[in-house]
Amino acid sequence: MILQVKDVHKSFQVKNKELKILKGVNLEVSQPQTLAIMGESGSGKTTLLSILAGLEPPTSGEVQIQGTDLTQFSEAEMTRFRGENVGIIFQNFHLLPQMTALQNVKLPLELSGDEQAEQKAIELLEQVGLKDRINHLPLKLSGGEKQRVAIARALSTKPKLLLADEPSGSLDIETGEKITQLLFSLIAKYQMTAIMVTHSQPLADRCEVTYYLKNGQLES
Ligand SMILES: Nc1ncnc2c1ncn2[C@@H]1O[C@H](COP(=O)(O)OP(=O)(O)OP(=O)(O)O)[C@@H](O)[C@H]1O
Ligand SMILES: [Mg+2]
Repeated sequence: MILQVKDVHKSFQVKNKELKILKGVNLEVSQPQTLAIMGESGSGKTTLLSILAGLEPPTSGEVQIQGTDLTQFSEAEMTRFRGENVGIIFQNFHLLPQMTALQNVKLPLELSGDEQAEQKAIELLEQVGLKDRINHLPLKLSGGEKQRVAIARALSTKPKLLLADEPSGSLDIETGEKITQLLFSLIAKYQMTAIMVTHSQPLADRCEVTYYLKNGQLES
């Protein structure tokens, strides 16, 4: 089993009120595939992705990735597990601003102790068409270029599970389309399972399965 989500609930405490966002999310992914998660703004998509990434604990319920229960990890164990098994593309890229494109992509490889980190990072940046931008700081990259660095970084350790929050969200249609094509070709190449949160119907149409987050639950 690649991913198993069992009855996940998530509430936020705001002032004295309990805000229930996820109310029993279930999901099973048993073979590499591409999944889209759609749903209204505020429905809890990013919240769910953060829980799947182990960045935030569920209020209750269970998340297993490759048979391992995330909730039993300490923070250090979680960071390590994530580094080796999960790639994440965030809604706003989250590149480290003081690091060049190359350093951003190289970092997860170095953290995993890969001795060929530099060479692999350069190859990845070449694959996403940024050979001439490897020494640029994020500030000096365009939106689409930043997105491509984020993709290269998320794929650097060849994780089996890729989580992406609006991977083409803030780009113009043409650039978004190019980046979508690039992303799907890399997902197929590395045989990854990808879960993409999106408002874009064309992006969802490219995925094998589409779920809707509604009333705190996933519907197909
Ligand atoms: N840390 C938090 N504390 C309190 N409320 C939160 C917190 N994080 C998220 N929320 C609330 O939970 C709801 C779901 O947020 P989330 O970011 O998951 O929505 P989303 O489906 O990703 O929306 P969008 O499509 O706009 O990105 C929102 O109403 C948000 O205000
Ligand atoms: Mg969101």
